Amino acid sequence: MALMDFAGRVAIVTGSGRGLGRSHALMLAERGARVVVNDLAPEEGAESAAAEVVGYIRDRGGIAIADHHSVIENAEALVATAIDSFGQLDIIINNAGVVSSVNFAEADRTDWNRVFDVHFGGTVSVCRAAWPYLARSGAGRIINTSSSGMLGNEGFSAYGSAKAAIFGLTRCLAMEGERVGITANAILPSAWTRMADIVKDPVILAAVQTYFQPEHVSALVAWLAHQNTLVTNEAFQVSGGRAARLTMAVHPTVKVEESTPEAWAGQSQALFAGADVRPVTSTAELFMRELVAADPDIASKIAEYGSGGLELNDLGRQTLDSHGVDPSGRHG
Ligand SMILES: NC(=O)c1ccc[n+]([C@@H]2O[C@H](COP(=O)([O-])OP(=O)(O)OC[C@H]3O[C@@H](n4cnc5c(N)ncnc54)[C@H](O)[C@@H]3O)[C@@H](O)[C@H]2O)c1
Repeated sequence: MALMDFAGRVAIVTGSGRGLGRSHALMLAERGARVVVNDLAPEEGAESAAAEVVGYIRDRGGIAIADHHSVIENAEALVATAIDSFGQLDIIINNAGVVSSVNFAEADRTDWNRVFDVHFGGTVSVCRAAWPYLARSGAGRIINTSSSGMLGNEGFSAYGSAKAAIFGLTRCLAMEGERVGITANAILPSAWTRMADIVKDPVILAAVQTYFQPEHVSALVAWLAHQNTLVTNEAFQVSGGRAARLTMAVHPTVKVEESTPEAWAGQSQALFAGADVRPVTSTAELFMRELVAADPDIASKIAEYGSGGLELNDLGRQTLDSHGVDPSGRHG
């Protein structure tokens, strides 16, 4: 296969002064992208992590510029760095993040909001500022960093909810981006970085250090960021040269004869029974399944309703198809 190169492309990688972001920036730059290496300004007297990465890239013949704007407050200025330096913007890798572990009941409200804002607010702000330029690119690429933390983790309510919000945001952006050639995908990485320092078990720590180098994650990120990769609206769990597509799934619906709390108490076992799960892909699709379960004749009713009624998008049509219902109103 031909080398996937990024000549002519401009990328912003947030939080790329160290860890996963650094690795993403190096991989894109090595393959010809011009890269904005964004990270927080250094403490007084300290070295700039972003400048160190830029120096490393330039020493190897690559093109990069350091940017010290925070993704929370200054996303517009960060995007302006890309435009002013390189005249275009094609790829956004939202990676900047912080982690802190404190139980919800004990968490200080300001600290809690800060963690949420770096991840979710920062991702929203950078996507918002970048969107017009990504649309102009014609092959805009957004890769957002979620985490298995979104599935729930004691002590990580701010982090986990922000990562779940990023997952939902990415799906919506993917759908809205289709019209303008922007793809959006999320990753749920595991990698040996300072953030992974929270791992205390020596055996697990040794395994993480041995197998989970950030470059493994960057390879999948670079694939998703490439202009020839049309994958969109997906999320991948990725680490150590392995990745798995993440899907949301629903169990078969359970019906109660009468909608009362008591009826649901009586049906609680049924809600948890069965392994016949089906992947779900969008709000429209899940809602369509609910409608079809409630009323198998829904398609003919929608057809009678005419164009002023409930609009079926493609996923809704596929869902009706998969239920043996012809969206034109005839029953399969
Ligand atoms: N390392 C893992 O195993 C792992 C697992 C799941 C998710 N993640 C996610 O991957 C991303 C990268 O994490 P990492 O492990 O490389 O951590 P890291 O701490 O090494 O790197 C994060 C970088 O983000 C920067 N940053 C923080 N706030 C910022 C802001 N407001 N503006 C700009 N930059 C800011 C930090 O200065 C730091 O350089 C994070 O979003 C993290 O939540 C990491």
